[in-house]
Amino acid sequence: MKNVLKITGGIPLKGSIKTQGAKNAALPVIAACLILRGGTLTLDNIPDLYDISAMYDLLRALGVEILKENNSRAIFKVPEELRWEAPEPIVRKMRASSLVLGPLLANCGRISLPLPGGCSIGSRPIDLHLKGLKQMGAEIEIRNGVVHASVKGRLRGRRIYLDFPSVGATENLMVAAALASGETIIENIAREPEIDNLAETLRNLGVPVELEGTGGVRIKGIDRAKSGYSRVIPDRIEAGTYILAGVMTRGEMTVTDLIPSHIDSMLAKLEEAGAKFKVTKDSVTVYPVKRLKPISVKTMPFPGFPTDAQPQMSAALSIANGVSMVEESVFQSRFLYAQELNRMGADIKISRDLAVIKGVKKLQGATVKATDLRAGAALIIAGLAAEGETRVDDMVHVWRGYEAIDQKLRSLGAKVELLDSL
Ligand code: UD1
Repeated sequence: MKNVLKITGGIPLKGSIKTQGAKNAALPVIAACLILRGGTLTLDNIPDLYDISAMYDLLRALGVEILKENNSRAIFKVPEELRWEAPEPIVRKMRASSLVLGPLLANCGRISLPLPGGCSIGSRPIDLHLKGLKQMGAEIEIRNGVVHASVKGRLRGRRIYLDFPSVGATENLMVAAALASGETIIENIAREPEIDNLAETLRNLGVPVELEGTGGVRIKGIDRAKSGYSRVIPDRIEAGTYILAGVMTRGEMTVTDLIPSHIDSMLAKLEEAGAKFKVTKDSVTVYPVKRLKPISVKTMPFPGFPTDAQPQMSAALSIANGVSMVEESVFQSRFLYAQELNRMGADIKISRDLAVIKGVKKLQGATVKATDLRAGAALIIAGLAAEGETRVDDMVHVWRGYEAIDQKLRSLGAKVELLDSL
């Protein structure tokens, strides 16, 4: 596997690229097919990513047949009876494996799922997922790192209040509620656009789902889901990453096939920092400006500034004209990229959940390591803007979330090359 991206920096990006389907929408939507008993989910605009292949491996292990119609469309053929034991080696490949918990428990009445474990951005517990499922009548035990959950009869619809608007817990509980008896109301849910995509998919599978403006969702459980169709929304984080790459390299480039309202917070912050761009109904074009102004950014659940774009935004601010403050309020340790950016000449100091970024005139190319997916993205866009050559090692993280990033960058005029090793 090609694990290193060699970048010759300093070339302004030019041209136009399409946004991929959203990783974080595709994963829960694909897992939601597990509420079917003998039926199909046909899905369009699926991105070609490692995390998606890992989800396919998991579904196949549970008995789902996956027919790939072309690069971005697949049909998930679900048997009358699914297997309910998720194999450890597959689950450990991807944290989002926990998304099968809700649908599989609701459908089979039991599940055993090895705990997906933490990752470099924080501890990533699933206590809120488990608490909600218990409230719906599940009995849950964790033995030797494996979650064993079962329910007598069906899960029971009820009112659930989430202590924090966790994206994953919202998704798991919504899908579990689809096959519960009676109505489930979940309050204080995550309102990321990926949740709307999941709600629409559930509706297409025959489940009455109503999202309420105030941060709640109402789901009427059904006996049996029907075959249906859905389409994955555009990836707002991928789009934001390329927009930031355009801004950082002082390029003139367009990102198409996106939904501007999904990246409002990013655009608002870029505007505040003095970036120049034009927004149409489905694209953003950035225009060159000399240097960004320093700003303050705080990550928050949607519609706040996304934690998944925080490292890339910090990379852009590392060459702004002054001192910026970036506060991370969603994950505990999402600043691992800072020491790598500092190797490139950035001046970032971290104290707990705050990054103080003193803008420098220019970054210099260096050999750096992607510690996680978005850290990798931040280092790549920094490398594109830096003087000289940058090598980003551990691209394995980046392939989890960015489809053909080398080809897309090349089509924008960047000089990048994939290498086997350093
Ligand atoms: C999803 C996204 C991820 C994004 C995150 C926040 C997917 C596949 N991943 O992750 O890219 O960064 O949303 O936008 O969609 N928490 C608990 N207990 C729980 C669940 C979460 O304490 O049971 C905490 C987490 O530790 C974290 C915070 O809540 O600090 C946010 O997590 P959550 O919204 O659940 O993120 P994910 O669904 O894991």
